[in-house]
Amino acid sequence: MLDVHQTGYTTDLEYECRICAEMDPHYLAYVCAIRGVDSVLARLADGIDYCDLGCGSGDSVLAMAAAHPSSRFTGIDFNPAHIARAQAIARRAGLTNARFVECSFGDFASRSDTTFDVIALHGVYSWVGAEQRNEIVASLSAKLRSGGIVYVSYNVLPGWLSMLPLRQIMIELARQTELPSSQKVAHVRKFIREFAEIERACGYSSRHLDDLCMSLEKTSANYIAHEYLNRDWYPAFSNEVARDLHRAKLSFVGEATVARNYPETFVPTPMIEFIERQSTPELQQLLIDISSGATFRRDVFVRGMRRSPVRHLFESAPFSFLALDRNLDIGESLGNATSFVSFAGLLIEHAFSNVVNFVDVLSLAAQNGVATEDCSRVVQALVARGMLQIGHGAAFGASEATSTEGKSMSALNCLRLQEAAMKGSDALLCSNVVVKPVQLSAANAQALANRFPVSDSPSAAARNTDSVDLKREFVRKLSRLRIIE
Ligand SMILES: C[S@@+](CC[C@H](N)C(=O)[O-])C[C@H]1O[C@@H](n2cnc3c(N)ncnc32)[C@H](O)[C@@H]1O
Repeated sequence: MLDVHQTGYTTDLEYECRICAEMDPHYLAYVCAIRGVDSVLARLADGIDYCDLGCGSGDSVLAMAAAHPSSRFTGIDFNPAHIARAQAIARRAGLTNARFVECSFGDFASRSDTTFDVIALHGVYSWVGAEQRNEIVASLSAKLRSGGIVYVSYNVLPGWLSMLPLRQIMIELARQTELPSSQKVAHVRKFIREFAEIERACGYSSRHLDDLCMSLEKTSANYIAHEYLNRDWYPAFSNEVARDLHRAKLSFVGEATVARNYPETFVPTPMIEFIERQSTPELQQLLIDISSGATFRRDVFVRGMRRSPVRHLFESAPFSFLALDRNLDIGESLGNATSFVSFAGLLIEHAFSNVVNFVDVLSLAAQNGVATEDCSRVVQALVARGMLQIGHGAAFGASEATSTEGKSMSALNCLRLQEAAMKGSDALLCSNVVVKPVQLSAANAQALANRFPVSDSPSAAARNTDSVDLKREFVRKLSRLRIIE
């Protein structure tokens, strides 16, 4: 096994704060439900064991631990700076159900501690070499319980093909020197800028090069080092990833990017008919990627496929729905369910004022003479278009001050605001109602954090603030998301 510093992965700069909503158990439960797959997530309320492999700064683990107090979350990463930071935040936010372990993928497989119901890998699989990918598959084999769920995201081929030459330049530049990563980033930024100027002078124009220049200017050195400067970087065909994971007895469920489960909405009909005639999910998914030029996938797998009717899975589901906006052009979004526009309008209106579960939705459908199957199609279309958000069902009605998850999230949000104010960066806050995190501008994060010496929660601080802009952002957006009471 390779020593940490020989794996070729960036270790001298920390990864930046990121929260991936699609990793949340409620999101994964939703994907299993729409694909008609029974999963361990149905018993989320009793508590599950969840592992984030290659957890980086640990922010997704921290947000999920706050939202799901009856479950236990473990973040694994070989970078001690990542683990130390995440452990400090968990301690300060009182998150006793979040633990972080400094461990490589290779060592994790052979550890004798607990097994897990869910193992997630976000932004890891295509950023490490073949040896690490083998270790990951061995970890999934050894550590995932029967019936367990895997989430794995990766850069996908053939969508990344046209970026390969630029990527190769950056890998070559990074290999040429032993400089610290921060200096390598400066060197790469300068080189790519010059290269773009020369290309322009030669009369070439490349959208990819323009996009890359913009991304290198806009994103932090921390992100660039982890995204572009590792020795290994291999976008993968989805059928190859599926075959790797078959070795851990995993079967493909669907994509955690909900809209991607409805290829009929983005692939032309003759191609869809051709894809539907193919007999394996691997070939079907490969054809969808080729037809749609996909560049990134978030795949969900299960260890032991058990099927159930979608209606049954929806009725016993742990998630809920919430609409954040009511002024929507619904007709466009319904695809082949357009005859239900007026029911969809009622549903959005209802979900704007309440957090609703599927049983509530069914009773609204019954009152309006809409059949269960049609109701499920309408819900799925609205969720796929982001008009209905997936929410934390259990937290419905809970306030920041009284519920366990509300208190944990409030404590976590306070820490995030203080950290953002110190760095002058945006803040990512979590909500006790909706799974997606909310990005607060640096100025508003600063204004809110300034109130902390006199108040103990974002709610209190938001109520006390003098900033009209901040009040507007909180009252309009954050209070709807129950980040404040
Ligand atoms: C691009 S970052 C993604 C971090 C996090 N999942 C996220 O999305 O914010 C990849 C992470 O994998 C970790 N990593 C890379 N190789 C590893 C290995 N061999 N064992 C354990 N962790 C590793 C890195 O330290 C880094 O935190």
